[in-house]
Amino acid sequence: MKIIVGNWKMNGDGALVKSFVEGLNGIESENKIVVCPPAELICLFKNFKHNIGAQNCFWEDRGAFTGEISALSLKELGCKYVIIGHSERRNLFNESNDTIFKKWNNVVKNGLVPIVCVGEKDKNSWKDELIEQLKIFTNQDLNGTIIAYEPVWSIGTGEIPTFDRIAQTLEFIKDTLSSPPTLYGGSVNLKNYRQILEQKVVDGLLIGGASLELTKFLEICEYKNIQ
Ligand code: PGA
Repeated sequence: MKIIVGNWKMNGDGALVKSFVEGLNGIESENKIVVCPPAELICLFKNFKHNIGAQNCFWEDRGAFTGEISALSLKELGCKYVIIGHSERRNLFNESNDTIFKKWNNVVKNGLVPIVCVGEKDKNSWKDELIEQLKIFTNQDLNGTIIAYEPVWSIGTGEIPTFDRIAQTLEFIKDTLSSPPTLYGGSVNLKNYRQILEQKVVDGLLIGGASLELTKFLEICEYKNIQ
């Protein structure tokens, strides 16, 4: 069983939701499937057989925080997962490791599963940045938390690390923390998903671009380990 998460980012509309609900409800898959649409589309996922995640939330449940998204409300909408600390949040919205930690706490408090994204900007020094991002979680109870390793230089570029490097980095993350389920994300496509998932240490995928095309996403969701 692998965890397949689709991150739609700020894309999609009612018609896309409808086609995904129909398409994904029609497949049998041994994997855990999570779709993370923009927050404003979540309520359109009616009678969805799989899981819904959010792409972000705030660290308080309620209050004078105009424009923010409450994890408590996400839970009411039936969300089970929340992506925290995606590199676009870190880089475009200046989210720091401290901010991400506060959000993680709130997601856990509300009984949702956080998918914490980490990953280096600099292709040549992955360890330093990762250590910094992981440090805040080292003494925490990560039971129920998922980590997603997404090298920033790989997101949306078509370029991915070697399969060995992916395995090595995920092993490093699991050794540093208390072995949480760990996903790989960054330019996952129909050509590379199988080989990435065949790495034993890879518990699943966080998929951006390819998660917006139903036929591609369905094929990845139907992955079966035949080894
Ligand atoms: P990508 O995005 O698959 O389009 O590279 C991954 C992500 O940002 O989560």
